[in-house]
Amino acid sequence: MNRRSVLEGFALDYDRMVDWRKRLAIEGPFLRKLFSKHAVRSLLEGACGPGHHAIYLSSFIERVRAFDIDGEMLQLARGYSSQAKAKVRFFLADFLNFPRKANGVFDAFLCLGNSFAHLQGRKDLRRVLANVARVLKPEGLAVIHLINFELMLGEGPGVRFVSPRLITEKGLTTAYVKFFVVNDRRIGVHFVKLLIRREGISQETHSGELTAFKKDDILAAAKGLFRRRELFGDYDFSRYVRKTSPQMILVARK
Ligand SMILES: C[S@@+](CC[C@H](N)C(=O)[O-])C[C@H]1O[C@@H](n2cnc3c(N)ncnc32)[C@H](O)[C@@H]1O
Repeated sequence: MNRRSVLEGFALDYDRMVDWRKRLAIEGPFLRKLFSKHAVRSLLEGACGPGHHAIYLSSFIERVRAFDIDGEMLQLARGYSSQAKAKVRFFLADFLNFPRKANGVFDAFLCLGNSFAHLQGRKDLRRVLANVARVLKPEGLAVIHLINFELMLGEGPGVRFVSPRLITEKGLTTAYVKFFVVNDRRIGVHFVKLLIRREGISQETHSGELTAFKKDDILAAAKGLFRRRELFGDYDFSRYVRKTSPQMILVARK
């Protein structure tokens, strides 16, 4: 289990580099539909990052709690939550110990943004899914997003760039470039921040490793813990197809 986040020291930049409006426009309707269908009234979000999903969900789910391993992420999340007058309770925990701190059981557990890829391997995946099952009520719903690593691995070793993001504020342009280095089941993830000034360009990099979990890993780890397990390939509820789907979203029922 990785006790430190790949994004440690990068929370503020992570928050700036993500286009939250765009993400919520894509993920929001999927989550709303799913949680309404299952009459979800309490939810725990794992690896919540700067809290935007939890805050959004609290607009239609009564009790929302969220945790992250990174104190800086939680500081951002609490700030946004109080700005939005949301009633989300955030707490510091990691995937390995969150049931002790979760304070009760929930109708649903959510984890977005490929955060499960921060786990070190199949053993941790199974342990963390067991924790998820522990914090769910009978019939509770788990929604876990990963990117489709099988698609990435299928294209062979190499570098995969994610669309860069440019931000200009007060005459200073910042470019965020994210890319993956694919070799085997451990995938390098790199964030490059370029500060573009008249005097020149300076750069900061932030790197870590992810585990490329596959369909069989996630389904095997969920077996025996969740009665029903379904995989979607994207936020439009399309079925997961190994060779073409951009995402791999597990929707499991306890
Ligand atoms: C890529 S961000 C995703 C954040 C947010 N869920 C989203 O969708 O944008 C990954 C998050 O996982 C958190 N994280 C990494 N390892 C963790 C662990 N072992 N336990 C809890 N959170 C962890 C990081 O701190 C970070 O906030």
